[in-house]
Amino acid sequence: MRILLGVSGGIAAYKAVLLLRLLREQGHAVRVIPTRAALEFVGAPTFEALSGEPVSTEVFDDVPGVQHVSLGQHADLVIVAPATADLMARAAAGLADDLLTTTLLAARCPVVLAPAMHTEMWDHPATRANVATLRERGVHVIEPASGRLTGADTGPGRLPDPEDIAREALSLVDGPPAENLDLAGRRVVVSAGGTREAIDPVRFIGNRSSGRQGVALAQAAAARGADVTLVAANLAQDVTDQVLAGPRACSVVQVESTTELRDAVRAVGAEADVVVMAAAVADFRPAVTPDAKIKKVPGQGPAPIELVENPDILAEIAHDRLRPGQVVVGFAAETGDAGGSVLEHGRAKARRKGADLIAVNAVGSGRGFGTESNEVTILDGAGDVVGLASGTKREVADALWDAVAKLLP
Ligand code: C5P
Repeated sequence: MRILLGVSGGIAAYKAVLLLRLLREQGHAVRVIPTRAALEFVGAPTFEALSGEPVSTEVFDDVPGVQHVSLGQHADLVIVAPATADLMARAAAGLADDLLTTTLLAARCPVVLAPAMHTEMWDHPATRANVATLRERGVHVIEPASGRLTGADTGPGRLPDPEDIAREALSLVDGPPAENLDLAGRRVVVSAGGTREAIDPVRFIGNRSSGRQGVALAQAAAARGADVTLVAANLAQDVTDQVLAGPRACSVVQVESTTELRDAVRAVGAEADVVVMAAAVADFRPAVTPDAKIKKVPGQGPAPIELVENPDILAEIAHDRLRPGQVVVGFAAETGDAGGSVLEHGRAKARRKGADLIAVNAVGSGRGFGTESNEVTILDGAGDVVGLASGTKREVADALWDAVAKLLP
């Protein structure tokens, strides 16, 4: 995950160093943005050495890089620890007089403030109003801990422990820490996205799959402890960004065509306990792919494109079982027609493919492709309904893994 760690000028700034170390140890890329006052407490070299990234406080430090906007735009999470009364007042007022406050205005990711100050300052109506304003705008303000403050005094206003700040902040992006680790030690392969079959070096036959459901499956499995390989076929750019920035990174193999997808899935699938074919795979590909671009000849109509059938990867794997006891799962994106309902087509497909489970979803009219939510009926190999799932693609993914987990030895 790409994290911006804002540090404002309070004595608790020294604890930001521990938070930085912790986040780096967890594998996150962290860029520290201190205020001028923070550097009175901790020197920039400490933050630079531990983050491995440059540290600046001013908007004028790297003008060509337009840092005051770009840092916030590209972050997955902003944490400000400690957040002083002054920093929160400036943030609540929308001031933009240093790199940290401009970044707070530009950020579209979750923003977490961990306040630290004396109890009197925390309790002051001005601070209370600023905290209320920030919370109303969706900023996550962590409650300060109670305990010993800078001097001998005690009370609310202490910066929480770095471990607690990290846990609370990361859970905003990552969801709560998984309680269910039922896939721990399992190796799973998930294909996602849609294949492209080259017509010539420039054009291809493709489909509308964004890869969102497949990526949700990969991330849900990783969150449940599985060792995941995502075979990614031409994911939408924002989905690729999500995968690469993802907190629980899966191994990613990028492919383009059905042939590449098949090779990749069979290679990594040889070691897998579960293979889920969520990718939309082209049934046909051009019989020949010329090395040069096909030219339009004026006066001549289009040349026909001869197609040949692609192998059905799911049916092959279901038949071959690359590993004993392997569970194989497919998807069936269906539309109802004169030949039958969505479910009837799904049932027929379940029997034909030989997979252990088939998730049937209705597509078309804004449903299924590229959307954030999904609705599937889970069938077993005989075509009998074993589950229903609807909601976000992540919720659907978890329901499918529940069904898979029941089949694992
Ligand atoms: O036959 P249909 O394309 O509807 O089947 C969808 C399921 O089969 C998906 O799980 C998809 O990943 C898989 N499939 C495949 N190879 C193909 C076509 C589809 O693995 N050539």
